[in-house]
Amino acid sequence: MSAAGRFITFEGIDGSGKSTQIRTLADSLRAAGHDVVLTREPGGSPGAEEIRRLVLEGDPDRWSAETEILLFTAARRDHLERTILPALARGQIVLCDRFADSTRMYQGLSRGDLRATVDQLHKLMIGREPDLTILIDMDPSVGLARAKSRETAEERFEDFGEPLQRQMRAGFLTLAKEFPDRFRVIDGARDIDTVAADILATVMADLA
Ligand code: ADP
Ligand code: TYD
Repeated sequence: MSAAGRFITFEGIDGSGKSTQIRTLADSLRAAGHDVVLTREPGGSPGAEEIRRLVLEGDPDRWSAETEILLFTAARRDHLERTILPALARGQIVLCDRFADSTRMYQGLSRGDLRATVDQLHKLMIGREPDLTILIDMDPSVGLARAKSRETAEERFEDFGEPLQRQMRAGFLTLAKEFPDRFRVIDGARDIDTVAADILATVMADLA
């Protein structure tokens, strides 16, 4: 691995197993001697965690679609400046649960076609893509049933329901075709250990 570190993101619909799998991957990489930083979006730095509460809790109509893009991007900028870039500069592997591809899908697709706005703001304020993106893919009925079994206050986007999650799944698969160099699609509708082994093999091949 180069001294510049490696920036690896996890993407997928709600309940696809990202949080479960990213923790397992972090453990496996650490056991193999790698220096790993595990982080998430929205959040991952003190300021961005505050913004997380603003965007994920409360009335679904609290923000316009455009304001929401600004908030997610503001959180990302802080996270990038204070957590991701310093870790990469130290040569660490950064594992991040969601990143800009989630904004491209959730804010870019769900309330009108705002993908161009998301991309423009990304170019202006973030300008960094992951080195590798693990897309955990599955039928939304599986993911939604799993996500609903958790009880949290952060239910704004999970309440989208199945038709929109279906649109998200298709959107993520299209995104994987748009950025084939960094995307790897993993079948998430299998048991936890099988998915984990697949992800570990994919990441080890990338690091080799
Ligand atoms: P995400 O972070 O993508 O929303 P989670 O990792 O939180 O997904 O998983 C959602 C729920 O599904 C959790 O309760 C988790 O324990 C469970 N889960 C995750 N992966 C699997 C799997 N492969 N098979 C069955 N249940 C799973
Ligand atoms: P997350 O905690 O990953 O939820 P889950 O475990 O259910 O996948 O993310 C919280 C929600 O925030 C999720 O519904 C997706 C949404 N989100 C966006 O809408 N835009 C974004 O840019 C990001 C990073 C997340």
